[in-house]
Amino acid sequence: MTRTKHNAKELAKVLSFARFLIWCVLHLHIEGTLDAELLLQLAKKYKVKLKWKTVAQIRAAYQFSSLDEFLALYYQGCNVLRDYDDFYTLTLRYLTRAARANVRHVEMFVDPQTHTNRGIELAMVIEAMADAALEAQRQFGMTTLLIPCLLRDHPIESGMDTVESILDIRQRDKRFKNWIVALGLDSSEANYPPKLFKRHFQRAKEAGLLLTAHAGEEGPPAYIRQAMKVLGVNRLDHAKRCLEDRKLVAELRRTQMPITNCPWSSLRLGVVNKLADYRLDTFLDEGLCSSIHTDDPAYFGAYEWQTLEACVETFGLTMDDLFQLSINSIVGSFASKARKIELKAEAYAGAARGFQHIQL
Ligand code: HPA
Ligand code: ZN
Repeated sequence: MTRTKHNAKELAKVLSFARFLIWCVLHLHIEGTLDAELLLQLAKKYKVKLKWKTVAQIRAAYQFSSLDEFLALYYQGCNVLRDYDDFYTLTLRYLTRAARANVRHVEMFVDPQTHTNRGIELAMVIEAMADAALEAQRQFGMTTLLIPCLLRDHPIESGMDTVESILDIRQRDKRFKNWIVALGLDSSEANYPPKLFKRHFQRAKEAGLLLTAHAGEEGPPAYIRQAMKVLGVNRLDHAKRCLEDRKLVAELRRTQMPITNCPWSSLRLGVVNKLADYRLDTFLDEGLCSSIHTDDPAYFGAYEWQTLEACVETFGLTMDDLFQLSINSIVGSFASKARKIELKAEAYAGAARGFQHIQL
Protein backbone atom coordinates (compact mmCIF):
# COMPACT_ATOMS: atom_id res chain seq x y z
CA MET A 1 0.00 0.00 0.00
CA THR A 2 1.32 3.41 -0.81
CA ARG A 3 0.93 5.96 1.90
CA THR A 4 1.47 9.61 1.24
CA LYS A 5 2.67 12.20 3.66
CA HIS A 6 -0.29 13.79 5.43
CA ASN A 7 -1.01 17.47 4.94
CA ALA A 8 -1.63 19.45 8.14
CA LYS A 9 -5.40 18.90 8.04
CA GLU A 10 -5.18 15.14 7.47
CA LEU A 11 -2.50 14.81 10.12
CA ALA A 12 -4.69 16.57 12.69
CA LYS A 13 -7.62 14.31 11.77
CA VAL A 14 -5.63 11.07 12.07
CA LEU A 15 -4.11 12.18 15.37
CA SER A 16 -7.45 13.16 16.83
CA PHE A 17 -8.74 9.69 15.88
CA ALA A 18 -5.65 8.15 17.51
CA ARG A 19 -6.55 9.83 20.80
CA PHE A 20 -9.50 7.43 21.11
CA LEU A 21 -7.51 4.23 20.63
CA ILE A 22 -6.19 2.09 23.44
CA TRP A 23 -2.77 0.47 23.70
CA CYS A 24 -0.89 -2.38 25.32
CA VAL A 25 2.73 -1.60 26.14
CA LEU A 26 4.83 -4.70 25.44
CA HIS A 27 8.36 -3.32 25.23
CA LEU A 28 9.28 -1.07 28.10
CA HIS A 29 12.32 -1.28 30.38
CA ILE A 30 11.18 0.09 33.71
CA GLU A 31 14.72 1.32 34.41
CA GLY A 32 14.48 3.22 31.11
CA THR A 33 11.68 5.34 32.56
CA LEU A 34 14.04 7.00 35.06
CA ASP A 35 13.49 10.60 34.02
CA ALA A 36 15.93 13.45 34.63
CA GLU A 37 13.92 14.91 37.53
CA LEU A 38 13.77 11.60 39.41
CA LEU A 39 17.44 10.91 38.66
CA LEU A 40 18.43 14.24 40.26
CA GLN A 41 16.12 13.66 43.22
CA LEU A 42 17.49 10.17 43.94
CA ALA A 43 21.11 11.23 43.38
CA LYS A 44 20.55 13.83 46.08
CA LYS A 45 18.93 11.28 48.39
CA TYR A 46 21.97 8.97 48.12
CA LYS A 47 24.59 11.72 47.79
CA VAL A 48 25.63 10.29 44.42
CA LYS A 49 27.75 12.73 42.44
CA LEU A 50 26.47 13.19 38.90
CA LYS A 51 28.22 14.91 36.00
CA TRP A 52 25.09 16.99 35.52
CA LYS A 53 23.39 19.54 37.75
CA THR A 54 20.17 20.28 35.89
CA VAL A 55 17.41 18.55 33.97
CA ALA A 56 18.47 20.40 30.82
CA GLN A 57 22.07 19.19 31.18
CA ILE A 58 20.92 15.59 31.60
CA ARG A 59 18.62 15.76 28.61
CA ALA A 60 21.39 17.29 26.51
CA ALA A 61 23.74 14.47 27.52
CA TYR A 62 21.35 11.81 26.25
CA GLN A 63 22.77 11.57 22.74
CA PHE A 64 23.84 8.11 21.64
CA SER A 65 25.49 6.67 18.58
CA SER A 66 25.04 2.99 19.49
CA LEU A 67 23.21 0.61 21.80
CA ASP A 68 26.34 0.12 23.91
CA GLU A 69 26.86 3.85 24.34
CA PHE A 70 23.29 4.17 25.61
CA LEU A 71 23.57 1.13 27.87
CA ALA A 72 26.60 2.62 29.66
CA LEU A 73 24.50 5.61 30.72
CA TYR A 74 21.42 3.53 31.43
CA TYR A 75 23.32 1.23 33.84
CA GLN A 76 24.88 4.29 35.49
CA GLY A 77 21.38 5.72 36.04
CA CYS A 78 20.29 2.45 37.68
CA ASN A 79 22.77 3.10 40.49
CA VAL A 80 20.34 5.52 42.17
CA LEU A 81 17.59 2.90 42.31
CA ARG A 82 18.14 1.30 45.68
CA ASP A 83 15.26 0.90 48.10
CA TYR A 84 11.60 -0.10 47.97
CA ASP A 85 10.42 3.52 47.63
CA ASP A 86 12.67 4.14 44.62
CA PHE A 87 11.28 1.19 42.66
CA TYR A 88 7.72 1.90 43.77
CA THR A 89 7.96 5.57 42.74
CA LEU A 90 9.66 4.76 39.43
CA THR A 91 6.98 2.23 38.51
CA LEU A 92 3.90 4.20 39.58
CA ARG A 93 5.29 7.35 37.95
CA TYR A 94 5.57 5.58 34.62
CA LEU A 95 2.21 3.79 34.86
CA THR A 96 0.48 7.07 35.72
CA ARG A 97 1.99 8.70 32.68
CA ALA A 98 1.07 5.75 30.47
CA ALA A 99 -2.54 5.80 31.69
CA ARG A 100 -2.84 9.36 30.36
CA ALA A 101 -1.89 8.06 26.89
CA ASN A 102 -4.74 5.50 26.94
CA VAL A 103 -2.45 2.60 27.77
CA ARG A 104 -4.63 -0.10 29.35
CA HIS A 105 -2.15 -2.93 29.83
CA VAL A 106 1.62 -2.82 30.45
CA GLU A 107 4.19 -5.61 30.35
CA MET A 108 7.29 -4.24 32.04
CA PHE A 109 10.82 -5.50 31.59
CA VAL A 110 13.11 -5.42 34.60
CA ASP A 111 16.82 -6.30 34.62
CA PRO A 112 17.41 -8.31 37.83
CA GLN A 113 21.20 -8.63 37.42
CA THR A 114 21.62 -4.85 37.21
CA HIS A 115 20.29 -4.69 40.75
CA THR A 116 21.47 -7.96 42.34
CA ASN A 117 25.05 -7.21 41.16
CA ARG A 118 24.92 -4.14 43.44
CA GLY A 119 23.63 -6.14 46.39
CA ILE A 120 19.99 -5.14 45.94
CA GLU A 121 17.50 -7.85 46.80
CA LEU A 122 15.45 -8.99 43.81
CA ALA A 123 12.39 -9.91 45.89
CA MET A 124 12.25 -6.31 47.20
CA VAL A 125 12.45 -4.88 43.66
CA ILE A 126 9.65 -7.14 42.48
CA GLU A 127 7.50 -6.45 45.53
CA ALA A 128 7.83 -2.68 45.07
CA MET A 129 6.90 -2.96 41.40
CA ALA A 130 3.96 -5.25 42.19
CA ASP A 131 2.63 -2.82 44.81
CA ALA A 132 2.89 0.08 42.35
CA ALA A 133 1.14 -2.05 39.72
CA LEU A 134 -1.68 -2.79 42.17
CA GLU A 135 -2.09 0.92 42.81
CA ALA A 136 -2.22 1.57 39.03
CA GLN A 137 -4.90 -1.08 38.70
CA ARG A 138 -6.87 0.55 41.52
CA GLN A 139 -6.53 4.07 40.11
CA PHE A 140 -6.75 3.46 36.37
CA GLY A 141 -8.11 -0.07 35.89
CA MET A 142 -4.84 -0.78 34.12
CA THR A 143 -3.45 -4.32 34.12
CA THR A 144 0.25 -5.17 34.23
CA LEU A 145 2.61 -8.12 33.94
CA LEU A 146 6.31 -8.45 34.67
CA ILE A 147 9.04 -9.80 32.40
CA PRO A 148 12.46 -10.14 34.04
CA CYS A 149 15.25 -10.11 31.44
CA LEU A 150 18.67 -11.74 31.41
CA LEU A 151 21.60 -9.50 30.50
CA ARG A 152 23.17 -11.30 27.55
CA ASP A 153 26.61 -9.69 28.10
CA HIS A 154 26.83 -11.05 31.67
CA PRO A 155 28.25 -14.45 32.62
CA ILE A 156 26.12 -17.43 31.61
CA GLU A 157 26.11 -18.78 35.16
CA SER A 158 24.87 -15.48 36.58
CA GLY A 159 21.99 -15.79 34.09
CA MET A 160 21.17 -19.28 35.35
CA ASP A 161 21.23 -18.11 38.99
CA THR A 162 18.89 -15.30 37.99
CA VAL A 163 16.43 -17.69 36.37
CA GLU A 164 16.41 -19.79 39.56
CA SER A 165 15.85 -16.69 41.75
CA ILE A 166 12.94 -15.59 39.56
CA LEU A 167 11.35 -19.04 39.71
CA ASP A 168 11.86 -19.16 43.45
CA ILE A 169 10.21 -15.76 44.03
CA ARG A 170 7.35 -16.77 41.75
CA GLN A 171 6.83 -19.98 43.67
CA ARG A 172 7.10 -18.44 47.13
CA ASP A 173 4.43 -15.78 46.74
CA LYS A 174 1.18 -16.63 44.95
CA ARG A 175 0.72 -12.97 44.00
CA PHE A 176 3.62 -13.41 41.59
CA LYS A 177 2.68 -16.79 40.10
CA ASN A 178 0.86 -15.38 37.08
CA TRP A 179 2.13 -11.81 37.30
CA ILE A 180 5.72 -12.74 36.45
CA VAL A 181 4.62 -13.96 33.08
CA ALA A 182 7.73 -14.41 30.93
CA LEU A 183 11.49 -14.40 30.67
CA GLY A 184 13.23 -11.88 28.39
CA LEU A 185 16.74 -11.30 27.04
CA ASP A 186 18.30 -7.86 26.60
CA SER A 187 21.45 -5.68 26.82
CA SER A 188 24.35 -5.60 24.34
CA GLU A 189 23.42 -7.71 21.33
CA ALA A 190 26.46 -7.83 19.03
CA ASN A 191 28.49 -11.01 19.69
CA TYR A 192 25.94 -12.38 22.16
CA PRO A 193 23.74 -14.69 20.07
CA PRO A 194 20.51 -15.97 21.60
CA LYS A 195 21.73 -19.59 21.49
CA LEU A 196 24.01 -18.86 24.47
CA PHE A 197 20.83 -18.85 26.56
CA LYS A 198 19.24 -22.09 25.37
CA ARG A 199 19.40 -23.76 28.82
CA HIS A 200 18.04 -20.70 30.60
CA PHE A 201 15.05 -20.43 28.32
CA GLN A 202 14.38 -24.16 28.42
CA ARG A 203 14.34 -24.08 32.22
CA ALA A 204 12.00 -21.06 32.28
CA LYS A 205 9.64 -22.66 29.78
CA GLU A 206 9.48 -25.90 31.75
CA ALA A 207 8.54 -23.86 34.82
CA GLY A 208 5.63 -22.30 32.92
CA LEU A 209 7.03 -18.95 31.83
CA LEU A 210 6.45 -17.54 28.37
CA LEU A 211 9.50 -16.36 26.44
CA THR A 212 10.58 -13.25 24.57
CA ALA A 213 13.97 -11.93 23.44
CA HIS A 214 15.58 -8.84 21.97
CA ALA A 215 16.84 -9.93 18.57
CA GLY A 216 17.64 -8.13 15.35
CA GLU A 217 17.98 -4.71 16.95
CA GLU A 218 21.66 -4.46 16.06
CA GLY A 219 22.20 -8.18 15.49
CA PRO A 220 21.69 -9.96 12.15
CA PRO A 221 18.58 -11.87 10.96
CA ALA A 222 20.32 -15.09 12.08
CA TYR A 223 19.84 -13.96 15.68
CA ILE A 224 16.10 -13.60 15.06
CA ARG A 225 15.98 -17.16 13.68
CA GLN A 226 17.93 -18.41 16.71
CA ALA A 227 15.56 -16.71 19.13
CA MET A 228 12.69 -18.52 17.38
CA LYS A 229 14.27 -21.91 16.72
CA VAL A 230 16.70 -22.36 19.61
CA LEU A 231 15.01 -20.41 22.39
CA GLY A 232 11.44 -21.00 21.20
CA VAL A 233 10.25 -17.47 21.93
CA ASN A 234 6.58 -16.51 21.92
CA ARG A 235 7.40 -12.95 20.89
CA LEU A 236 10.30 -10.98 19.37
CA ASP A 237 11.59 -7.64 20.61
CA HIS A 238 12.78 -5.19 17.94
CA ALA A 239 13.39 -7.71 15.14
CA LYS A 240 14.03 -4.66 12.96
CA ARG A 241 16.55 -6.49 10.79
CA CYS A 242 14.11 -9.24 9.76
CA LEU A 243 13.38 -7.07 6.70
CA GLU A 244 16.81 -8.04 5.32
CA ASP A 245 15.67 -11.65 4.90
CA ARG A 246 12.65 -12.38 2.66
CA LYS A 247 12.23 -15.97 3.88
CA LEU A 248 12.28 -14.85 7.49
CA VAL A 249 9.62 -12.22 6.80
CA ALA A 250 7.46 -14.91 5.16
CA GLU A 251 7.82 -17.11 8.24
CA LEU A 252 7.00 -14.25 10.61
CA ARG A 253 3.88 -13.54 8.58
CA ARG A 254 2.82 -17.20 8.42
CA THR A 255 3.29 -17.71 12.17
CA GLN A 256 2.00 -14.22 13.09
CA MET A 257 4.83 -13.99 15.58
CA PRO A 258 4.27 -10.80 17.59
CA ILE A 259 7.01 -8.21 17.05
CA THR A 260 7.52 -5.25 19.38
CA ASN A 261 8.89 -2.50 17.15
CA CYS A 262 10.66 0.48 18.75
CA PRO A 263 11.24 2.88 15.83
CA TRP A 264 12.11 5.96 17.88
CA SER A 265 14.57 3.97 20.00
CA SER A 266 16.30 2.70 16.84
CA LEU A 267 16.58 6.26 15.59
CA ARG A 268 18.10 7.47 18.86
CA LEU A 269 20.58 4.58 18.96
CA GLY A 270 21.80 5.13 15.41
CA VAL A 271 20.37 1.80 14.18
CA VAL A 272 18.69 3.94 11.50
CA ASN A 273 19.82 7.39 10.37
CA LYS A 274 16.34 8.74 9.89
CA LEU A 275 12.98 7.50 11.13
CA ALA A 276 11.77 6.72 7.59
CA ASP A 277 14.58 4.14 7.31
CA TYR A 278 12.93 2.09 10.03
CA ARG A 279 10.31 1.04 7.44
CA LEU A 280 7.44 0.56 9.86
CA ASP A 281 5.12 0.80 6.84
CA THR A 282 6.81 -2.29 5.39
CA PHE A 283 6.16 -4.24 8.61
CA LEU A 284 2.48 -3.39 8.21
CA ASP A 285 2.31 -4.05 4.47
CA GLU A 286 3.95 -7.44 4.98
CA GLY A 287 1.09 -8.34 7.32
CA LEU A 288 3.34 -8.88 10.35
CA CYS A 289 1.95 -8.78 13.89
CA SER A 290 3.76 -5.56 14.57
CA SER A 291 3.13 -3.01 17.32
CA ILE A 292 4.90 0.22 18.35
CA HIS A 293 6.70 0.75 21.66
CA THR A 294 9.04 3.18 23.41
CA ASP A 295 11.80 0.95 24.91
CA ASP A 296 13.44 3.49 27.26
CA PRO A 297 11.26 6.60 26.98
CA ALA A 298 13.07 8.80 29.52
CA TYR A 299 16.40 8.30 27.73
CA PHE A 300 15.09 8.58 24.18
CA GLY A 301 12.84 11.56 24.87
CA ALA A 302 9.61 10.05 23.57
CA TYR A 303 6.79 8.38 25.49
CA GLU A 304 3.85 6.58 23.88
CA TRP A 305 2.09 9.55 22.38
CA GLN A 306 5.20 11.27 20.97
CA THR A 307 6.32 7.98 19.42
CA LEU A 308 2.95 7.48 17.79
CA GLU A 309 2.84 11.04 16.51
CA ALA A 310 6.31 10.77 14.97
CA CYS A 311 5.34 7.51 13.23
CA VAL A 312 2.06 8.91 11.88
CA GLU A 313 3.94 11.87 10.45
CA THR A 314 6.90 9.99 9.03
CA PHE A 315 5.14 6.95 7.60
CA GLY A 316 1.82 8.60 6.74
CA LEU A 317 0.03 6.00 8.89
CA THR A 318 -3.70 5.85 8.24
CA MET A 319 -6.52 5.36 10.72
CA ASP A 320 -6.72 1.72 9.61
CA ASP A 321 -2.99 1.32 10.31
CA LEU A 322 -3.40 2.76 13.79
CA PHE A 323 -6.30 0.50 14.60
CA GLN A 324 -4.29 -2.49 13.34
CA LEU A 325 -1.33 -1.48 15.53
CA SER A 326 -3.64 -1.17 18.53
CA ILE A 327 -5.15 -4.63 17.90
CA ASN A 328 -1.69 -6.12 17.29
CA SER A 329 -0.57 -4.81 20.67
CA ILE A 330 -3.48 -6.71 22.26
CA VAL A 331 -3.05 -9.89 20.23
CA GLY A 332 0.71 -9.89 20.89
CA SER A 333 0.34 -9.39 24.63
CA PHE A 334 0.74 -12.09 27.26
CA ALA A 335 -2.54 -11.08 28.93
CA SER A 336 -5.08 -13.81 29.75
CA LYS A 337 -7.69 -14.73 27.16
CA ALA A 338 -10.38 -13.01 29.22
CA ARG A 339 -8.36 -9.80 29.53
CA LYS A 340 -7.64 -9.79 25.79
CA ILE A 341 -11.37 -9.98 25.09
CA GLU A 342 -11.96 -6.96 27.38
CA LEU A 343 -9.15 -5.04 25.72
CA LYS A 344 -10.44 -5.81 22.23
CA ALA A 345 -13.89 -4.62 23.21
CA GLU A 346 -12.34 -1.37 24.50
CA ALA A 347 -10.33 -1.02 21.29
CA TYR A 348 -13.38 -1.38 19.05
CA ALA A 349 -15.46 0.96 21.22
CA GLY A 350 -12.64 3.54 21.22
CA ALA A 351 -12.25 3.35 17.44
CA ALA A 352 -16.00 3.80 16.99
CA ARG A 353 -15.96 6.90 19.21
CA GLY A 354 -12.92 8.16 17.30
CA PHE A 355 -14.75 7.84 13.97
CA GLN A 356 -17.77 9.65 15.36
CA HIS A 357 -15.51 12.39 16.71
CA ILE A 358 -13.80 13.12 13.41
CA GLN A 359 -17.10 13.23 11.54
CA LEU A 360 -18.14 16.20 13.66
N1 HPA B 1 18.22 -3.04 23.90
C1 HPA B 1 18.81 -3.94 24.65
N2 HPA B 1 18.83 -3.87 25.97
C2 HPA B 1 18.24 -2.85 26.56
C3 HPA B 1 17.61 -1.88 25.83
C4 HPA B 1 17.59 -1.98 24.43
O1 HPA B 1 17.06 -1.14 23.68
N3 HPA B 1 17.12 -0.99 26.72
C5 HPA B 1 17.43 -1.43 27.94
N4 HPA B 1 18.12 -2.56 27.86
ZN1 ZN C 1 14.41 -3.02 24.73
